[in-house]
Formats: sequence, C-alpha cells, structure tokens
Amino acid sequence: MRRALLVGAGGMGQGWAKNLVAHSDQVSLAGWVDIREGAAAAAAEKHKISGLWMGTELEKAIAEVQPDFVVDVTIPEAHHEVTLTALAHGIPVIGEKPMAHSMEAARAMVAASDKSGKLYMVSQSRRYDNRILAYRRLIEKTCGSLGILNADFAIGAHFGGFRDEMDHVLLLDMAIHSFDQARYLSGADPVSVYAEEFNPAWSWYKGAASAICLFEMANGLRFTYRGSWCAEGLHTSWECEWRATGDAGTALWDGNDILKGAKVVGTEGFHRETQSTEEPITEEISGGIAGSLEDFLHALDTGATPMGECHDNIKSLAMVFGAVESATTGKRVAI
Ligand SMILES: NC(=O)c1ccc[n+]([C@@H]2O[C@H](COP(=O)([O-])OP(=O)(O)OC[C@H]3O[C@@H](n4cnc5c(N)ncnc54)[C@H](O)[C@@H]3O)[C@@H](O)[C@H]2O)c1
Repeated sequence: MRRALLVGAGGMGQGWAKNLVAHSDQVSLAGWVDIREGAAAAAAEKHKISGLWMGTELEKAIAEVQPDFVVDVTIPEAHHEVTLTALAHGIPVIGEKPMAHSMEAARAMVAASDKSGKLYMVSQSRRYDNRILAYRRLIEKTCGSLGILNADFAIGAHFGGFRDEMDHVLLLDMAIHSFDQARYLSGADPVSVYAEEFNPAWSWYKGAASAICLFEMANGLRFTYRGSWCAEGLHTSWECEWRATGDAGTALWDGNDILKGAKVVGTEGFHRETQSTEEPITEEISGGIAGSLEDFLHALDTGATPMGECHDNIKSLAMVFGAVESATTGKRVAI
C-alpha cells in the first residue's frame, strides 16, 4: 500500500482525491496540503474523506506524512516549487499538466528528476482514452508514411474565473492536450512552429481565445491546429476533430466514437480507388486521471516508463511555448 500526499485542493485537486480514494486497493490518501488555510480540510469534509493529515505547508507534510509519492494539483506557477521540493526529498511525483509556467522551470524539473533518480510524470490525461488508442492503430494501418495531420477544436466555453483574465488562454490552458495528442498519434516530435493568436470581437475572454498553429514535425510532417474557446454552436469534441493523411490513405476521428479510414488500392484514374478501413475500439482501459494514476503506479512497481514521463512530456510543453513565442513575435520559431 503506497501513501499519497495530495497538494492542491481546488477543483481538480478534489477530482484527484476521489481518484486516489477509488484506488484504495493500491494507495492510501495519507495527507492533503493547500496553501489556503482550511482549504484541504473543507475539501476533505465535502468529500467525506477522513483520517488524513491536512495543512498548508508542504515541507511539514512531507516530514509528518512520510509519503511514498506526491500528487501535485496546484496552479501551473506552483508546479516547479512543489515538484522540486518533493524530488529533493527523494519522493516521486505525478503532477497535473502543464508541467510548468515556463520552459526554464520545466528544464529545472527534468534535471531534478535526473538528480534524484526519482520518477516525475505529468498526468496528460487525454492520452488515456480507448478511442485515441484505436485511432492511432487506424492511422498506422491506413495512412502509410504520414505527411499531414490536422486538428480542429471549437468549443464555446464559459468558465468564468481565472481563465477569463488569462493571457494566451487557449494555448496555455488547453492546447497542451491537443499538441501532446498530435505527438502521440504521429510518433513525431516538433521541429518548428508558426502561430497566430487572436480574439474574435465577440470573445468573452481577455486573452486570445483562438489560435491557428502550423507545426513542422520530424520527417517533414505538418501538423495544423485550429482552435477556439469562443466558438458558439456545433462544438467539436474536447479531443478535437482529426484528419491524418499519408502516402497510402487518410484516417479520420471525430473526437467521439466515429473512426474511419480510406486506403488507396488502385494505381490509375483521376481519383485513385480506395478501400474503407476500420479499427474497433477494443480496450477496456481506465480513462482520464484514473488511467494516468494507474500508469504511474505501474511504473513505480515495475520501473517501466509511463506516458507523460517528464523527459518526454517536456516536448509537448515546448510546442506550447514555441507557439506562444511565434504568436508574440510574428516569426516562425524553432522548437
Ligand atoms: N487534466 C485536465 O483535464 C485538467 C482539468 C482541470 C485542471 N487541470 C490542471 O490541474 C491544475 C489545478 O487546476 P484547478 O482547476 O484545480 O485550479 P484551482 O485554482 O481550482 O486549484 C488550485 C489549488 O492549488 C492551491 N495552491 C496554489 N499554490 C499552491 C502551493 N504552492 N502549495 C499548495 N497549494 C497551492 C490553490 O490554493 C488552489 O486551491 C492546473 O495545473 C490545471 O491546468 C487539468
């Protein structure tokens, strides 16, 4: 039984508390920290969780709880401090996305993982989805050598709160998921990006809630992302709508349950003859943060490398900060 110390008792921290409790065959939620006085206790009471250490100081919590791992669900600006503190005590960390608020902070976190020899994994929860697993297989069986990958994201999201005031809100808070999914689907790492951010006249956000990004990925693959958080009506899925094209054909995913492909079988004619391809959604995996927690625990048990391991995840973060730099400078940016 592993002892977990949870840091952050906001909306997502409470989601993680429920996730940890749901895995009580493998972990016990031993402590909960939030810098806001009484926040952890109020959240624990709300979710009827008792018998755990609660307080506001991480160092004190580590000394008294002696956790086997830390779950960091604080705001992005605090991820660096929380992760470095835990790793300095030799404690592995699973933390929420995005890894950090800057590339400099993220590099220091990867270096701290190296120095301590302990796992630091980012919970990139949208990878734990049986539909994206099936779509990746469909791309492999249909497209051949991949050259074009397109993702569309259009949601009119009225959050209220910090996102309404945030700079680069779409790129920093949401696009990390889609960029990470593009790396997962293509198996390719980023080379450069040209991005434009804009805020349509009707947008209820202060920062840019829309963006169009063109990434060059390894092997010449181009990945385009067209996203908006102020697109009212006919929303896409939160997973984006995807189109992947290679020398052998095209595969689509609507971001929900529709996956379809067309593989070229003819060699003549204006349009080459194609054959439909399909890929069933088969796996019964735990989705979202349940999936990432299980991946993390499996890695602790076996030494396997989980998805979201920091050396890999920092490449998805670099796509976000590359896009922000390009949108700010108006230039194509090497990643
Ligand atoms: N995977 C997803 O789909 C998903 C969804 C929502 C949020 N998130 C991520 O989860 C994280 C938290 O988001 P949220 O919506 O819960 O935010 P939130 O603002 O509701 O909660 C953050 C909490 O962290 C606390 N905190 C801040 N600094 C701290 C520190 N140094 N030590 C201890 N506690 C500290 C705050 O007091 C607050 O209670 C963010 O990184 C966010 O991007 C991920």
